[in-house]
Amino acid sequence: MPFKTIIEPFRIKAVEPIRRTTRAEREAALQEAGYNLFLLKAEDVLIDLLTDSGTGAMSSGQWAGIMQGDESYAGARSFFRFEEAVQEITGLKHVIPTHQGRAAERILFGTMLKPGDIVLNNTHFDTTRANVEYRRAEARDIPTAAARRPQEQHPFKGNIDLDVLEQTLSEQKGCVPLVMITVTNNSGGGQPVSMANIRAASEICRRHGVPFFLDACRFAENAWFIKMREDGYSDATPLAIAQEMFSYVDGCTMSAKKDGMANIGGFLALNDDTLAQQCKNVLILTEGFPTYGGLAGYDLEAIAVGLREVLDEDYLRYRIRSVEYIGEILSREGIPMVQPTGGHALYLDAKTMLPHIPPGEFPAWALSLVLYLEGGIRSVEIGSVMFGLQPDGTEKPAMNELVRLAFPRRVYTQSHVDYVAEVLVHVNNLRERICGVRIVESPPVLRHFTARFEPAHGALIVGN
Ligand code: F0G
Repeated sequence: MPFKTIIEPFRIKAVEPIRRTTRAEREAALQEAGYNLFLLKAEDVLIDLLTDSGTGAMSSGQWAGIMQGDESYAGARSFFRFEEAVQEITGLKHVIPTHQGRAAERILFGTMLKPGDIVLNNTHFDTTRANVEYRRAEARDIPTAAARRPQEQHPFKGNIDLDVLEQTLSEQKGCVPLVMITVTNNSGGGQPVSMANIRAASEICRRHGVPFFLDACRFAENAWFIKMREDGYSDATPLAIAQEMFSYVDGCTMSAKKDGMANIGGFLALNDDTLAQQCKNVLILTEGFPTYGGLAGYDLEAIAVGLREVLDEDYLRYRIRSVEYIGEILSREGIPMVQPTGGHALYLDAKTMLPHIPPGEFPAWALSLVLYLEGGIRSVEIGSVMFGLQPDGTEKPAMNELVRLAFPRRVYTQSHVDYVAEVLVHVNNLRERICGVRIVESPPVLRHFTARFEPAHGALIVGN
Protein backbone atom coordinates (compact mmCIF):
# COMPACT_ATOMS: atom_id res chain seq x y z
CA MET A 1 0.00 0.00 0.00
CA PRO A 2 1.51 3.37 -1.00
CA PHE A 3 -0.50 5.28 1.67
CA LYS A 4 0.30 5.33 5.35
CA THR A 5 -2.98 6.61 6.85
CA ILE A 6 -4.81 3.85 8.69
CA ILE A 7 -8.50 4.66 8.30
CA GLU A 8 -11.54 3.48 10.23
CA PRO A 9 -12.42 0.37 8.17
CA PHE A 10 -16.15 1.12 8.18
CA ARG A 11 -18.59 3.86 7.28
CA ILE A 12 -21.31 5.11 9.60
CA LYS A 13 -24.92 4.09 9.09
CA ALA A 14 -26.63 5.28 12.28
CA VAL A 15 -25.51 8.12 14.53
CA GLU A 16 -26.20 8.96 18.16
CA PRO A 17 -25.86 12.59 19.31
CA ILE A 18 -23.58 13.38 22.25
CA ARG A 19 -24.30 16.31 24.52
CA ARG A 20 -22.03 19.18 25.46
CA THR A 21 -22.26 20.53 29.02
CA THR A 22 -20.75 23.59 30.69
CA ARG A 23 -18.05 23.30 33.32
CA ALA A 24 -20.55 24.55 35.94
CA GLU A 25 -22.99 21.79 34.95
CA ARG A 26 -20.26 19.18 35.27
CA GLU A 27 -19.24 20.54 38.67
CA ALA A 28 -22.84 20.15 39.87
CA ALA A 29 -23.11 16.69 38.30
CA LEU A 30 -19.96 15.58 40.14
CA GLN A 31 -21.30 16.80 43.45
CA GLU A 32 -24.58 15.01 42.94
CA ALA A 33 -22.73 11.82 41.99
CA GLY A 34 -20.68 11.88 45.20
CA TYR A 35 -17.54 12.42 43.09
CA ASN A 36 -17.94 8.93 41.68
CA LEU A 37 -17.96 8.75 37.87
CA PHE A 38 -19.93 5.49 37.98
CA LEU A 39 -22.81 7.46 39.53
CA LEU A 40 -23.03 10.10 36.77
CA LYS A 41 -25.87 10.13 34.28
CA ALA A 42 -24.34 8.98 30.99
CA GLU A 43 -25.99 11.84 29.11
CA ASP A 44 -23.88 14.27 31.15
CA VAL A 45 -20.75 12.71 29.61
CA LEU A 46 -19.34 13.95 26.29
CA ILE A 47 -16.79 11.23 25.50
CA ASP A 48 -17.38 8.06 27.49
CA LEU A 49 -14.18 6.06 27.96
CA LEU A 50 -15.36 4.37 31.17
CA THR A 51 -15.17 0.99 29.53
CA ASP A 52 -14.83 -0.89 26.26
CA SER A 53 -17.30 -3.44 27.64
CA GLY A 54 -20.66 -3.72 25.91
CA THR A 55 -20.25 -0.19 24.54
CA GLY A 56 -19.18 -1.03 20.99
CA ALA A 57 -21.11 -0.29 17.81
CA MET A 58 -22.54 -3.36 16.15
CA SER A 59 -22.16 -3.89 12.42
CA SER A 60 -24.93 -4.16 9.83
CA GLY A 61 -24.05 -7.87 9.71
CA GLN A 62 -24.73 -8.19 13.44
CA TRP A 63 -28.02 -6.31 13.19
CA ALA A 64 -29.03 -8.57 10.31
CA GLY A 65 -28.14 -11.56 12.51
CA ILE A 66 -30.35 -10.15 15.26
CA MET A 67 -33.38 -10.34 12.95
CA GLN A 68 -32.61 -14.03 12.49
CA GLY A 69 -32.48 -14.79 16.21
CA ASP A 70 -34.24 -18.02 17.09
CA GLU A 71 -35.94 -17.53 20.46
CA SER A 72 -36.78 -21.19 21.08
CA TYR A 73 -36.25 -22.10 24.71
CA ALA A 74 -34.25 -25.22 23.89
CA GLY A 75 -32.13 -26.22 20.89
CA ALA A 76 -32.40 -22.85 19.13
CA ARG A 77 -30.67 -22.48 15.75
CA SER A 78 -28.92 -19.38 17.13
CA PHE A 79 -27.22 -21.46 19.80
CA PHE A 80 -25.68 -23.77 17.22
CA ARG A 81 -24.36 -20.78 15.22
CA PHE A 82 -22.90 -19.39 18.42
CA GLU A 83 -21.38 -22.72 19.42
CA GLU A 84 -19.85 -23.18 15.98
CA ALA A 85 -18.25 -19.71 16.07
CA VAL A 86 -16.80 -20.32 19.55
CA GLN A 87 -15.55 -23.79 18.65
CA GLU A 88 -13.93 -22.66 15.43
CA ILE A 89 -11.78 -20.22 17.41
CA THR A 90 -11.21 -22.10 20.66
CA GLY A 91 -11.42 -25.75 19.65
CA LEU A 92 -12.97 -26.35 23.10
CA LYS A 93 -15.53 -29.12 23.40
CA HIS A 94 -18.26 -27.68 25.64
CA VAL A 95 -19.60 -24.16 25.05
CA ILE A 96 -21.79 -22.73 27.81
CA PRO A 97 -23.41 -19.34 27.11
CA THR A 98 -23.72 -16.88 30.00
CA HIS A 99 -25.18 -13.40 30.29
CA GLN A 100 -21.70 -11.90 30.69
CA GLY A 101 -18.14 -12.74 31.67
CA ARG A 102 -18.57 -12.62 35.43
CA ALA A 103 -21.38 -15.19 35.26
CA ALA A 104 -18.94 -17.58 33.58
CA GLU A 105 -16.44 -16.81 36.37
CA ARG A 106 -18.98 -17.39 39.10
CA ILE A 107 -20.06 -20.73 37.64
CA LEU A 108 -16.47 -21.91 37.09
CA PHE A 109 -15.13 -20.83 40.48
CA GLY A 110 -18.29 -21.94 42.25
CA THR A 111 -17.72 -25.41 40.82
CA MET A 112 -13.92 -25.66 41.14
CA LEU A 113 -12.90 -23.74 44.28
CA LYS A 114 -13.11 -24.46 47.98
CA PRO A 115 -12.14 -22.20 50.91
CA GLY A 116 -8.37 -21.76 51.27
CA ASP A 117 -7.58 -22.53 47.60
CA ILE A 118 -5.29 -20.27 45.60
CA VAL A 119 -5.95 -19.12 42.03
CA LEU A 120 -2.94 -17.80 40.13
CA ASN A 121 -3.37 -15.26 37.33
CA ASN A 122 -1.07 -12.73 35.62
CA THR A 123 -3.49 -10.16 37.11
CA HIS A 124 -7.07 -10.82 38.15
CA PHE A 125 -9.66 -8.39 36.85
CA ASP A 126 -11.78 -6.92 39.68
CA THR A 127 -14.84 -9.15 39.13
CA THR A 128 -12.59 -12.19 38.71
CA ARG A 129 -10.85 -11.43 41.99
CA ALA A 130 -14.17 -10.82 43.72
CA ASN A 131 -15.59 -14.12 42.45
CA VAL A 132 -12.51 -16.00 43.71
CA GLU A 133 -12.67 -14.26 47.09
CA TYR A 134 -16.40 -14.91 47.34
CA ARG A 135 -15.47 -18.61 47.46
CA ARG A 136 -13.07 -17.75 50.33
CA ALA A 137 -10.13 -18.56 48.09
CA GLU A 138 -7.11 -16.37 47.41
CA ALA A 139 -6.73 -14.54 44.08
CA ARG A 140 -2.96 -14.24 43.68
CA ASP A 141 -1.45 -12.05 40.94
CA ILE A 142 1.88 -13.18 39.52
CA PRO A 143 2.79 -10.77 36.69
CA THR A 144 6.42 -10.41 35.59
CA ALA A 145 8.60 -7.71 37.16
CA ALA A 146 8.19 -5.46 34.08
CA ALA A 147 4.46 -5.06 34.85
CA ARG A 148 5.37 -3.27 38.08
CA ARG A 149 7.23 -0.54 36.17
CA PRO A 150 4.64 1.46 34.21
CA GLN A 151 7.09 3.50 32.14
CA GLU A 152 9.22 0.54 31.03
CA GLN A 153 8.90 -0.63 27.41
CA HIS A 154 8.35 -4.35 26.96
CA PRO A 155 6.55 -6.10 24.07
CA PHE A 156 4.71 -8.56 26.31
CA LYS A 157 4.23 -6.89 29.65
CA GLY A 158 1.12 -9.00 30.30
CA ASN A 159 3.15 -12.20 30.72
CA ILE A 160 2.73 -14.37 33.79
CA ASP A 161 5.87 -14.95 35.89
CA LEU A 162 6.80 -18.53 34.94
CA ASP A 163 9.31 -18.97 37.79
CA VAL A 164 6.76 -17.96 40.41
CA LEU A 165 4.18 -20.18 38.71
CA GLU A 166 6.52 -23.20 38.83
CA GLN A 167 7.54 -22.48 42.41
CA THR A 168 4.00 -21.94 43.67
CA LEU A 169 2.69 -25.10 42.04
CA SER A 170 5.59 -27.09 43.59
CA GLU A 171 5.15 -25.60 47.06
CA GLN A 172 1.35 -25.46 47.23
CA LYS A 173 0.51 -28.93 45.97
CA GLY A 174 -3.23 -29.58 46.03
CA CYS A 175 -4.10 -25.95 46.87
CA VAL A 176 -4.20 -24.53 43.35
CA PRO A 177 -7.24 -25.92 41.52
CA LEU A 178 -6.64 -23.81 38.41
CA VAL A 179 -4.33 -21.25 36.85
CA MET A 180 -5.55 -18.43 34.60
CA ILE A 181 -3.96 -16.03 32.18
CA THR A 182 -5.87 -12.87 31.30
CA VAL A 183 -5.43 -11.75 27.69
CA THR A 184 -4.79 -8.94 27.35
CA ASN A 185 -3.90 -8.11 30.94
CA ASN A 186 -6.58 -5.51 31.60
CA SER A 187 -5.71 -4.44 35.15
CA GLY A 188 -2.01 -4.48 34.26
CA GLY A 189 -2.41 -1.93 31.47
CA GLY A 190 -4.09 -3.82 28.61
CA GLN A 191 -0.74 -5.46 27.92
CA PRO A 192 -0.46 -8.57 25.76
CA VAL A 193 0.79 -12.02 26.68
CA SER A 194 3.17 -13.77 24.27
CA MET A 195 2.45 -17.14 22.71
CA ALA A 196 5.70 -18.41 24.24
CA ASN A 197 4.44 -17.43 27.70
CA ILE A 198 1.04 -19.09 27.20
CA ARG A 199 2.74 -22.23 25.86
CA ALA A 200 5.25 -22.40 28.74
CA ALA A 201 2.58 -21.74 31.39
CA SER A 202 0.49 -24.52 29.87
CA GLU A 203 3.43 -26.95 30.04
CA ILE A 204 4.07 -26.11 33.69
CA CYS A 205 0.40 -26.55 34.59
CA ARG A 206 0.20 -29.82 32.69
CA ARG A 207 3.29 -31.18 34.48
CA HIS A 208 1.66 -30.37 37.82
CA GLY A 209 -1.72 -31.71 36.74
CA VAL A 210 -3.40 -28.31 37.23
CA PRO A 211 -6.07 -27.13 34.75
CA PHE A 212 -5.08 -24.03 32.79
CA PHE A 213 -7.64 -21.41 31.66
CA LEU A 214 -7.66 -18.21 29.66
CA ASP A 215 -9.69 -15.17 30.65
CA ALA A 216 -10.19 -14.55 26.95
CA CYS A 217 -12.07 -11.21 26.93
CA ARG A 218 -9.61 -9.54 24.56
CA PHE A 219 -8.19 -12.59 22.78
CA ALA A 220 -8.29 -10.99 19.31
CA GLU A 221 -6.37 -7.90 20.42
CA ASN A 222 -3.83 -10.21 22.06
CA ALA A 223 -3.55 -12.21 18.82
CA TRP A 224 -2.82 -8.99 16.91
CA PHE A 225 0.01 -8.07 19.28
CA ILE A 226 1.49 -11.56 18.82
CA LYS A 227 1.32 -11.08 15.05
CA MET A 228 3.04 -7.68 15.30
CA ARG A 229 5.60 -8.43 17.98
CA GLU A 230 6.46 -12.11 18.30
CA ASP A 231 8.94 -13.91 16.03
CA GLY A 232 7.39 -16.40 13.67
CA TYR A 233 3.83 -14.98 13.62
CA SER A 234 3.97 -12.07 11.16
CA ASP A 235 2.47 -14.14 8.35
CA ALA A 236 -0.13 -15.96 10.48
CA THR A 237 -3.76 -14.84 10.42
CA PRO A 238 -5.31 -13.54 13.67
CA LEU A 239 -7.62 -16.58 13.57
CA ALA A 240 -4.71 -19.04 13.34
CA ILE A 241 -2.93 -17.23 16.20
CA ALA A 242 -6.08 -17.29 18.34
CA GLN A 243 -6.55 -20.98 17.60
CA GLU A 244 -3.00 -21.68 18.75
CA MET A 245 -3.51 -19.63 21.95
CA PHE A 246 -6.60 -21.69 22.83
CA SER A 247 -4.92 -24.98 21.89
CA TYR A 248 -2.84 -24.71 25.09
CA VAL A 249 -5.76 -24.38 27.53
CA ASP A 250 -8.30 -26.63 29.20
CA GLY A 251 -10.96 -23.94 29.11
CA CYS A 252 -11.75 -20.24 29.07
CA THR A 253 -14.10 -17.62 30.43
CA MET A 254 -15.16 -14.89 28.04
CA SER A 255 -17.02 -11.62 28.14
CA ALA A 256 -18.52 -11.21 24.66
CA LYS A 257 -18.95 -7.52 25.56
CA LYS A 258 -15.31 -7.03 24.59
CA ASP A 259 -13.90 -9.03 21.66
CA GLY A 260 -17.31 -10.62 21.06
CA MET A 261 -18.28 -7.17 19.67
CA ALA A 262 -21.69 -7.47 21.33
CA ASN A 263 -23.52 -5.32 23.87
CA ILE A 264 -24.15 -8.25 26.20
CA GLY A 265 -23.13 -11.90 26.57
CA GLY A 266 -20.32 -14.23 27.45
CA PHE A 267 -19.42 -17.87 27.72
CA LEU A 268 -17.54 -20.56 29.54
CA ALA A 269 -15.88 -23.14 27.30
CA LEU A 270 -14.04 -26.23 28.46
CA ASN A 271 -12.93 -29.73 27.53
CA ASP A 272 -13.58 -31.75 30.69
CA ASP A 273 -16.91 -33.63 30.40
CA THR A 274 -17.60 -33.96 34.14
CA LEU A 275 -16.74 -30.35 34.92
CA ALA A 276 -18.88 -29.16 31.98
CA GLN A 277 -21.85 -31.14 33.29
CA GLN A 278 -21.42 -29.66 36.78
CA CYS A 279 -21.21 -26.16 35.33
CA LYS A 280 -24.31 -26.70 33.20
CA ASN A 281 -26.23 -27.80 36.30
CA VAL A 282 -25.38 -24.50 38.02
CA LEU A 283 -26.17 -22.65 34.78
CA ILE A 284 -29.70 -24.03 34.70
CA LEU A 285 -30.19 -22.92 38.29
CA THR A 286 -29.10 -19.32 37.83
CA GLU A 287 -28.73 -18.37 34.14
CA GLY A 288 -30.96 -20.56 32.02
CA PHE A 289 -31.12 -23.65 29.86
CA PRO A 290 -27.70 -24.57 28.35
CA THR A 291 -28.67 -23.49 24.82
CA TYR A 292 -29.34 -19.88 25.84
CA GLY A 293 -27.70 -19.31 29.25
CA GLY A 294 -29.43 -16.04 30.12
CA LEU A 295 -29.22 -14.58 26.60
CA ALA A 296 -31.82 -13.98 23.94
CA GLY A 297 -31.43 -15.93 20.70
CA TYR A 298 -30.64 -12.64 18.95
CA ASP A 299 -27.76 -11.98 21.38
CA LEU A 300 -26.24 -15.35 20.44
CA GLU A 301 -26.48 -14.36 16.76
CA ALA A 302 -24.80 -10.99 17.39
CA ILE A 303 -21.93 -12.71 19.20
CA ALA A 304 -21.53 -15.39 16.51
CA VAL A 305 -21.10 -12.66 13.87
CA GLY A 306 -18.99 -10.47 16.19
CA LEU A 307 -16.49 -13.24 16.91
CA ARG A 308 -15.75 -13.49 13.18
CA GLU A 309 -15.59 -9.72 12.61
CA VAL A 310 -13.19 -9.12 15.49
CA LEU A 311 -10.51 -11.23 13.79
CA ASP A 312 -10.56 -9.10 10.64
CA GLU A 313 -7.04 -7.75 10.01
CA ASP A 314 -8.19 -4.28 8.89
CA TYR A 315 -10.30 -3.95 12.01
CA LEU A 316 -7.51 -5.04 14.38
CA ARG A 317 -4.93 -2.84 12.65
CA TYR A 318 -7.22 0.21 13.06
CA ARG A 319 -8.18 -0.76 16.61
CA ILE A 320 -4.66 -1.11 17.99
CA ARG A 321 -3.40 1.87 15.96
CA SER A 322 -6.05 4.23 17.34
CA VAL A 323 -4.84 3.64 20.91
CA GLU A 324 -1.20 3.83 19.83
CA TYR A 325 -1.95 7.14 18.05
CA ILE A 326 -3.18 8.94 21.18
CA GLY A 327 -0.29 7.35 23.10
CA GLU A 328 2.17 8.95 20.68
CA ILE A 329 0.65 12.40 21.24
CA LEU A 330 0.86 12.01 25.03
CA SER A 331 4.42 10.70 24.86
CA ARG A 332 5.47 13.77 22.88
CA GLU A 333 3.91 15.93 25.62
CA GLY A 334 5.70 13.99 28.36
CA ILE A 335 2.46 12.81 29.99
CA PRO A 336 3.24 9.74 32.14
CA MET A 337 1.38 6.59 31.13
CA VAL A 338 1.83 2.87 31.00
CA GLN A 339 4.22 2.05 28.18
CA PRO A 340 3.75 0.75 25.59
CA THR A 341 0.07 1.57 24.96
CA GLY A 342 -2.26 -1.37 25.47
CA GLY A 343 -4.88 -2.88 23.19
CA HIS A 344 -8.17 -1.43 24.32
CA ALA A 345 -7.10 1.45 26.49
CA LEU A 346 -4.58 4.03 27.50
CA TYR A 347 -3.51 4.02 31.16
CA LEU A 348 -2.32 7.29 32.69
CA ASP A 349 0.23 6.92 35.48
CA ALA A 350 -1.25 9.14 38.20
CA LYS A 351 1.41 8.21 40.76
CA THR A 352 4.05 9.83 38.54
CA MET A 353 1.86 12.71 37.33
CA LEU A 354 0.62 13.69 40.81
CA PRO A 355 3.45 12.79 43.23
CA HIS A 356 2.11 15.32 45.77
CA ILE A 357 -1.10 13.29 46.34
CA PRO A 358 -0.56 10.39 48.81
CA PRO A 359 -2.15 6.97 47.99
CA GLY A 360 -4.61 7.54 50.87
CA GLU A 361 -6.03 10.50 48.93
CA PHE A 362 -6.44 8.40 45.79
CA PRO A 363 -4.44 10.27 43.11
CA ALA A 364 -5.84 8.28 40.15
CA TRP A 365 -9.42 8.78 41.32
CA ALA A 366 -8.78 12.53 41.63
CA LEU A 367 -7.25 12.66 38.15
CA SER A 368 -10.24 10.87 36.63
CA LEU A 369 -12.57 13.43 38.23
CA VAL A 370 -10.56 16.32 36.81
CA LEU A 371 -10.71 14.84 33.29
CA TYR A 372 -14.47 14.92 33.58
CA LEU A 373 -14.64 18.36 35.15
CA GLU A 374 -12.41 19.96 32.52
CA GLY A 375 -13.34 18.05 29.38
CA GLY A 376 -16.48 15.97 29.97
CA ILE A 377 -14.45 12.78 29.54
CA ARG A 378 -15.33 9.76 31.65
CA SER A 379 -12.50 7.34 32.49
CA VAL A 380 -12.02 4.82 35.26
CA GLU A 381 -9.60 4.58 38.19
CA ILE A 382 -7.56 1.39 38.39
CA GLY A 383 -5.73 2.08 41.61
CA SER A 384 -6.18 2.15 45.36
CA VAL A 385 -9.95 2.72 45.30
CA MET A 386 -10.46 -0.34 43.11
CA PHE A 387 -7.82 -2.56 44.72
CA GLY A 388 -6.79 -0.97 48.04
CA LEU A 389 -9.50 -2.45 50.26
CA GLN A 390 -8.29 -5.85 51.49
CA PRO A 391 -10.66 -8.76 52.25
CA ASP A 392 -9.96 -8.21 55.99
CA GLY A 393 -11.11 -4.56 55.72
CA THR A 394 -7.66 -2.95 55.91
CA GLU A 395 -6.19 -0.57 53.30
CA LYS A 396 -3.14 -1.39 51.21
CA PRO A 397 -2.02 0.96 48.40
CA ALA A 398 -2.39 -0.63 44.95
CA MET A 399 0.72 -1.57 42.95
CA ASN A 400 0.01 1.28 40.50
CA GLU A 401 -2.29 4.31 40.48
CA LEU A 402 -3.73 4.29 36.97
CA VAL A 403 -6.51 6.05 35.12
CA ARG A 404 -7.81 3.97 32.26
CA LEU A 405 -9.24 5.55 29.12
CA ALA A 406 -10.91 2.57 27.45
CA PHE A 407 -12.02 2.92 23.85
CA PRO A 408 -15.37 1.38 22.85
CA ARG A 409 -15.06 -0.61 19.62
CA ARG A 410 -15.95 1.20 16.35
CA VAL A 411 -17.59 4.13 18.23
CA TYR A 412 -15.31 7.18 18.22
CA THR A 413 -13.41 8.69 15.29
CA GLN A 414 -9.99 10.28 15.08
CA SER A 415 -11.34 13.78 15.87
CA HIS A 416 -12.81 12.46 19.13
CA VAL A 417 -9.39 11.04 19.94
CA ASP A 418 -7.71 14.36 19.08
CA TYR A 419 -10.11 16.14 21.44
CA VAL A 420 -9.29 13.68 24.25
CA ALA A 421 -5.57 14.29 23.70
CA GLU A 422 -6.12 18.06 23.88
CA VAL A 423 -7.98 17.73 27.20
CA LEU A 424 -5.23 15.52 28.60
CA VAL A 425 -2.55 18.05 27.70
CA HIS A 426 -4.60 20.80 29.39
CA VAL A 427 -5.11 18.71 32.55
CA ASN A 428 -1.42 17.81 32.65
CA ASN A 429 -0.63 21.54 32.68
CA LEU A 430 -2.84 21.91 35.77
CA ARG A 431 -1.28 18.92 37.55
CA GLU A 432 0.41 20.76 40.41
CA ARG A 433 -2.94 22.27 41.42
CA ILE A 434 -4.89 19.00 41.47
CA CYS A 435 -5.86 17.78 44.97
CA GLY A 436 -6.82 14.40 46.38
CA VAL A 437 -10.17 13.08 47.63
CA ARG A 438 -11.42 11.22 50.67
CA ILE A 439 -14.10 8.57 51.07
CA VAL A 440 -17.33 9.66 52.72
CA GLU A 441 -19.35 6.44 52.37
CA SER A 442 -18.24 3.00 51.19
CA PRO A 443 -19.64 -0.54 50.78
CA PRO A 444 -17.62 -3.57 52.00
CA VAL A 445 -16.77 -4.97 48.53
CA LEU A 446 -16.24 -3.61 44.99
CA ARG A 447 -16.41 -0.15 46.52
CA HIS A 448 -15.42 1.74 43.37
CA PHE A 449 -18.90 1.22 41.93
CA THR A 450 -20.87 2.93 44.69
CA ALA A 451 -18.61 4.70 47.22
CA ARG A 452 -19.10 8.44 47.69
CA PHE A 453 -16.20 10.90 47.96
CA GLU A 454 -15.43 14.56 48.57
CA PRO A 455 -12.41 16.73 47.77
CA ALA A 456 -9.91 16.31 50.64
CA HIS A 457 -8.84 19.97 50.49
CA GLY A 458 -12.04 21.83 49.61
CA ALA A 459 -11.79 21.54 45.80
CA LEU A 460 -10.43 19.25 43.08
CA ILE A 461 -8.29 22.05 41.67
CA VAL A 462 -6.88 24.81 43.88
CA GLY A 463 -5.18 28.18 43.19
CA ASN A 464 -4.88 29.95 39.83
N1 F0G B 1 -12.28 -10.36 32.79
C1 F0G B 1 -11.72 -9.23 32.30
C2 F0G B 1 -10.27 -9.21 31.95
C3 F0G B 1 -12.51 -8.09 32.15
O1 F0G B 1 -11.95 -6.98 31.66
C4 F0G B 1 -13.89 -8.15 32.50
C5 F0G B 1 -14.73 -6.97 32.38
C6 F0G B 1 -14.42 -9.34 32.96
C7 F0G B 1 -13.59 -10.43 33.10
C8 F0G B 1 -15.87 -9.49 33.36
O2 F0G B 1 -16.68 -9.47 32.24
O3 F0G B 1 -18.08 -7.42 32.51
O4 F0G B 1 -18.79 -9.27 31.00
O5 F0G B 1 -18.87 -9.57 33.44
N2 F0G B 1 -14.27 -5.82 32.21
C9 F0G B 1 -14.98 -4.59 32.02
C10 F0G B 1 -14.01 -3.46 31.99
C11 F0G B 1 -16.13 -4.37 32.93
O6 F0G B 1 -14.44 -2.29 32.04
O7 F0G B 1 -12.80 -3.70 31.86
P1 F0G B 1 -18.20 -8.90 32.31
